[in-house]
Amino acid sequence: MTEYHDDFAPTHRPEPYFIKVVEPFRLKSAAERTRAIRDAGYNPFLLRSEDIYIDLLTDSGTAAMSNRQWAMMLEVQESELGSAASRLFVERCREVLGFRYILPTHQGRAAEHLLSQAMIRPGQYVINNMYFTTTREHQERAGGVFVDLIVEEAYDPRSVYPFKGDIDPKKLVDFIAKHGAERIAYVCIETNVNMAGGQPISLGMTKEISAICRYHRIPVIFDATRVAENAYLIKQREAAYADWTIKEIILELMAQGDGCTISAKKDVLVNIGGILGVNDPGLYERCAALCATFEGTPWSGGLASRDLAAMAVGLEEMTDYDYISSRVEQVHYLWSRVKEAGVPVVEPPGGHAVFLDAQAFLPHIPQEEFPAQRLAAALYETAGVRGMERGIVSAGRDPSTGRHRGSKLELVRLTIPRRVYTYSHMDVVADGVLDVFRHRERLTGLRMVYEPPTLRFFTARFEPR
Ligand SMILES: Cc1ncc(COP(=O)(O)O)c(C=O)c1O
Repeated sequence: MTEYHDDFAPTHRPEPYFIKVVEPFRLKSAAERTRAIRDAGYNPFLLRSEDIYIDLLTDSGTAAMSNRQWAMMLEVQESELGSAASRLFVERCREVLGFRYILPTHQGRAAEHLLSQAMIRPGQYVINNMYFTTTREHQERAGGVFVDLIVEEAYDPRSVYPFKGDIDPKKLVDFIAKHGAERIAYVCIETNVNMAGGQPISLGMTKEISAICRYHRIPVIFDATRVAENAYLIKQREAAYADWTIKEIILELMAQGDGCTISAKKDVLVNIGGILGVNDPGLYERCAALCATFEGTPWSGGLASRDLAAMAVGLEEMTDYDYISSRVEQVHYLWSRVKEAGVPVVEPPGGHAVFLDAQAFLPHIPQEEFPAQRLAAALYETAGVRGMERGIVSAGRDPSTGRHRGSKLELVRLTIPRRVYTYSHMDVVADGVLDVFRHRERLTGLRMVYEPPTLRFFTARFEPR
């Protein structure tokens, strides 16, 4: 951990790397931005990348890779069978995550697919802490019945509860008592819950949940996509672990479970890749067979050796304290700037993004008129900044009734890519948000004019009312 001299306190801890490669971009004119968002059906997903000034759509696959990652990618031989990259990848996963059996996949959702198919019998419940779109989709495709048992604080954007990602142990115990442990396929615990505002789980409560599950012989599976950021927030917010290293916290957290799925495109600092880790050899065999059918060989998951090599290095870099602290603190800087100006945000700040509370930001727009979608479109039009709706559109429709599922949270996610933007970019984003906030009464709701059958937030189109 880098310490500054006692007398020297810079305004903020600088990014702990220097920039070797740059990609120029420019702000399009106001008229061009208005045209671009209209042509995109007011869905920022459908904007062309050349029309975007600062892209906070996602932290997925958008990280800048390090010189060590690029060097390793060039160094490895491409021969797939028994490649050194594959061995290095598996070794590094075991070392950082602690699971015995490892499968690479091309993305996180591919790992979710294999695991859901291997673990869920039709009609079984799968317990989650809130939901992630693809995770729930795969659980339901495998015939599972999705259940959300996150703590109630997670649904209150104003609550400053430090671990809004935790599962509520009372809800879990009641659920098991009512339905029986044998009807539960597994408990799926997401680290730094994305849809709740990047809110962490605590190690203390995870141990409690894991003990309940072990007693009832219910497997615990982590969605460990943002496990390093979660470990940093545990170090900050859970006194018992303040002196632990990021690596120690990750291992202790994962030791509470039986397996994990990971989208390596986030904390693992690569542009493509996923990981599935389990302890049970039988489960591994079933997943490996599915991997061969849907992904590629069990040692490559359909990825090139260079992608495995980049993940192996990324797994190590994500646990570096200087990196992970500057990453999360940059997110907190943006959060503080908008929060201090009175903009409603999800509190406390999370790990990977700042979430604007669109319902409080635009109280005059009812949820059926998509306030978060409207706000995301307005931020692009005002400042060229692309964020993403995480509310009623993302929640989709209930497959049995066909109705909007509805969402207790109606948010716009400003997701910060890793090692890509600097503090001055954060200032531009904050200025853009404040500008929209000043003129918020002018915004009207939207009407959805095109809706795809699943995961509609990617391609739905809207028009102003
Ligand atoms: C928490 C979480 N789980 C799973 C996924 C799916 O991963 P991928 O996009 O790599 O398929 C994502 C990202 O989109 C995510 O944020």
